[in-house]
Formats: sequence, C-alpha cells, structure tokens
Amino acid sequence: MCGIFGYIGPKTNAAKMVIEGLKSLEYRGYDSWGIALKTDNDIIVYKKTGKVGEINKLPKNLLGKTELAIGHTRWATHGGVTNANAHPHFTENKEIVLIHNGIFENYFEVKKQLLRKGHKFTSETDTEVIAHLIQENLKRHDFEQSVKNAIKKIEGRYAIVIIHKNENKIIAARRGSPLIVGVGKNGEYYIASDVPAFLKYTKKVMYLDNDQMVILSENSAKFYEIKTHKEIHKKMIEIGWDSQTAEKGAYAHFMLKEIMEQKETLYRAINQDDRLIKKVADAINNACGTYFVGCGTAGKVCLTAEYLFSEIAHKHVNSIFGSEFPTHHHFITNKTLLIPISQSGETADTLEAIEVAKEVGAKIISIVNVETSTMARMSDLIIPVKCGPEKAVASTKVTTAQMAILILLAYASIEKLSEGKILLLETAEKINDMLNPGYVMHIFKLAEKLKNFESMYIIGRGANYPMALESAIKLQEVSYIHAEGFAAGELKHGPIALIQKNTPCIVLVGENGSKSAILSNAMEVRARGGYIIGVSPTHEEVFDYWIRVPEVSIASPIVNIIPIQILAYQLAILRKNNPDMPRNLAKSVTVK
Ligand code: F6R
Repeated sequence: MCGIFGYIGPKTNAAKMVIEGLKSLEYRGYDSWGIALKTDNDIIVYKKTGKVGEINKLPKNLLGKTELAIGHTRWATHGGVTNANAHPHFTENKEIVLIHNGIFENYFEVKKQLLRKGHKFTSETDTEVIAHLIQENLKRHDFEQSVKNAIKKIEGRYAIVIIHKNENKIIAARRGSPLIVGVGKNGEYYIASDVPAFLKYTKKVMYLDNDQMVILSENSAKFYEIKTHKEIHKKMIEIGWDSQTAEKGAYAHFMLKEIMEQKETLYRAINQDDRLIKKVADAINNACGTYFVGCGTAGKVCLTAEYLFSEIAHKHVNSIFGSEFPTHHHFITNKTLLIPISQSGETADTLEAIEVAKEVGAKIISIVNVETSTMARMSDLIIPVKCGPEKAVASTKVTTAQMAILILLAYASIEKLSEGKILLLETAEKINDMLNPGYVMHIFKLAEKLKNFESMYIIGRGANYPMALESAIKLQEVSYIHAEGFAAGELKHGPIALIQKNTPCIVLVGENGSKSAILSNAMEVRARGGYIIGVSPTHEEVFDYWIRVPEVSIASPIVNIIPIQILAYQLAILRKNNPDMPRNLAKSVTVK
C-alpha cells in the first residue's frame, strides 16, 4: 500500500529517475502521486491525483538538475483522493517534506495538540501531522533529533521518508511497512518500498527492520535503532531477480504475463531442497496444532491446505485469515506451528498473526515469494515460492505455486515426497501444453458471452471449494462483476434462489471422487435456467460451455483456477478496466 522511492547520489537526473521508479511501484497504490526534489536551498513539490504522470508532459522545472529526490504513489487511507491529500507533504514553513506509507493511528490526538499550538493543516491526512510534529521539534532540535522525537509519538505501522531544504540527506524510518535501501555505484543510494523501483540500477540491498532508521547521504548509509540510537551494521544482500522479469515484455499487462508464466513457475516452485520439505513436514507432524494463515487469495490457498492434507495425508490442519487470527490466538502455544502464506511477505494482518504467535513461542515457517520480505525475516524457516516478481494486483502465478508447495508438504508428511513430486511434474507439463494461444482464445470467446452479466456464481467441492472462492475474488477484483463462490452442496440450502434464466454458473470439477456429486449440483442449477460453464477434464452433458483442463487428480485446484484467471483478465479488458490496477485495490496491503 503506497509506493515510496527516493534517490541521493551523483546522478543529476534524480527527479526523472524517481518518477520512472514510481511507475514500477504503482501496483502498490495509484490514486495519486507526487514528487519532491531538492534544489540548492529549496524543495520543489509537485503532486497530482491519478496515475504517475508521463515525463514529457510534466512542468519543466521538475526535470532540472537535482541529485536528491523522493516520490510517492498513494493508496488513500486518511482523506479522499485529492491533490491536497497526495504526498509529499510540506511543513507550513516549507522547510521539510515528508512521504509516508501506513497509518498513524493516534494522529487525531496529536493533530489536536498541534492545532492548539497554532498549526494550520492543508490536507486531511495523518501524514501531514507527522510533518508538523517534526516542524514543532525543529524549534529546539536539529533535523535528525526532530525526526526521532516525532517518530516516537507515532502509534501504528509506518514507513516514512523525509528531506530538509538545507540538508543533503534523506532520513527514513520504518515500523511494519517495508523500506529497502539500494546501494548503487559511486556512493549513491536508493530507498524504496520494493526493489523493482531500483532494480535497473542495482541488485545490492540493505533492509531496514522495524523501529530502525537510516540516514542516507552521498557516500554513506547509517542505520540506527530508533529507541537507543545505537548504530547498526547492515549486511548487504544481492537480489536474485533481474529487471527483465520485473517488466511486462511483449504482454499488454502484467496480469496476462504472470498467468502465462505458469508454464514454468510450477517447475520452479517444486524444485525445492528435499531436506527442507521433509524438515517442514516433520515440523507439521510433531506440532501440537498447525495453523496456515494468510489473507485474500493467500487465505484461500490456506483453506486448500485443510483439504489437501485431509485427502493426501489424512491429517487435520487449520486455516485462518490473518485478520481473523486475533480470535484464535488463545489456542496458540509454544508447541503450535504457524505457517503464514504470502506473496509479498508484507501483509499487515498476516504479520500481526506472526507477532502474536511469536510472543507465545510458536514456531513460524512461512511459504513466501519475496524471500527478503519482513515475513521471511520474522520466520524461523521459509519455503521460497520462487516465482519472481508478481506485479499485477491480482495474484495468479504465486497462487498456483503456493498450492504446489502444499501438495509437496502433504505428501512429505506421509513419507511419499517423490510421489507428490511426480504428480506435480506431470501437472506442470500439462499446464505447459494447456497454455497455448488456441486455449486462451477459447476462454476469450466465453468472456465475450459473459461481459454484460452483472452476477455470476462459481461452485466447487473439496479442495476446489476454496478455488470457487478464489475464482470469485479474481472475477470481482478485475472485472467488477458481482461473483460469488460456494461449496457446491451448499447451493440448495439457500443460494440456488439466486439462479434465473441464463445466470452464469462456473462448475469446477474436481478429481473423480467428487465428480458425480458436483455434476448433480450443476444439473440442479441448469434445471432452474442457469448457464453452466464446466471446468473439467471431460465434457459432460450438463455443460453449456466446456473449458477443458488436464486430468491431474488431487492437483486439480491448480489447473482449475488458471482458466478463471484468464477469463477474469479478458472480462476486465472487454469492460475497459485496467486489470493491473483495479479500482480501490493495491498489491501489498500493509495496513490493517
Ligand atoms: C488478490 C490478491 C490479494 C492477496 C492478499 C494477500 O488477487 O492478490 O487478495 O492475496 O492481499 O497478499 P500477500 O499474498 O502478499 O500476503
């Protein structure tokens, strides 16, 4: 949520670089954006609603020579989407400028105190209050001390970056929201919410951890603990991603590119060290309760874990959404195993579940795509998902890779890891065949038929029930069509009343055991006029439209979700929505 990017160094085109970098962070928020650049003894701020502007259409003074600039792309929390609420925020005397990601939970109390002292605010944001708090401190302290004093008053999760018109430095601090320092050549530094912003320039990074701050000047990056102001020596890490995988290439959108990458991401996800998978499987076998925890799509992947472990290993595991975890923490002890599942490793609700579980001494093993994320660093052990950057807001390739890892773990927990691997290798090969242009066109044709519907339903049984829920998320978030997923057998207990003539109903057919039951459910819907779209290895009489998927037994949730991802993508295109940047959403949800 919200993208931050800053640069300090010898390059004189800092502003242009920051604007370009912000574009690669737009998946984190795109309702407004802004930039601040430092001139000799002044700061120029430019901010606007909408997506990051095209460089050639921006005012000329923004692109003059500067060696220090910071920028922000916003996902609104406090205050509507207006120019005034966009970041950066100036102090009243235009001395400092600040950008922020997160929520300053106690901002209102602090704002009231500042109002009493005569401060005047120009926006409705919590961010502007931090700027004023620093300004108040600047009356008595230097820049660094003022920032430190102000930060200590903030309750909540945040990442902030601040510059002063008379100082050639960037100060940044974080608690909960990510900030990464990129180390360039010749004493230059980048600071960003995510690495794609500077991947073009450097792969060398240093991570800011919670309650730490960094002071970046040309030639030096000094890290401190905020509470004690003790200096910390950071390890430099080399990122494995390259800038090409972080770009769209020949595809019109990241979402389509990432869907198509599933031809090979599954191979990468299952190419794990057997010892690691066995170690995690042992931890599951020995734990007094295993909890899979995640949010949104990752939460649905957690729910498949319950079914996959039951079917494959006859074992009970629990799944819970990160945001619902607070009511479950009473059951967590130092013998519990928590398995957070996440693409970004930065989702606030999931991180909070980890914090709660860590407090009682539970073991944390995450399944996470961003290996250098906060989540990865908070865990005792991680299983990397190895999908490379996923930039479209709608998760696709990481979802299927995470499910593949769950299948590996379930087989490993009954000492049948190689059996699981063979199944997944076959699945990966079949996906490779499936994702051909003819297949994609067949689904695009279906999208043409469905584009004007305002409601559709998806049903599944067993491990395909969570995928019915996930299908609904995919369709909702990019096509804006009302979509709901149900356990197929539940339909007759209420929701079937919603079926009218031609109501689209997608039927995710699972492995043989549940096949006849779900086809009966499809028949019940058809008898009431429903238009049945079957996602199934075989054609069935009840289908009005058939989308063929390969036969892969218990791995069927992996193959069944892929055509729905393609359908959601094409519906977004036909309904003139941008699938990479759906309204009201952001890629990393770093607020509660
Ligand atoms: C939907 C989607 C979200 C994320 C959720 C958790 O397509 O991507 O629902 O799954 O916000 O994000 P991560 O996996 O980064 O923890």
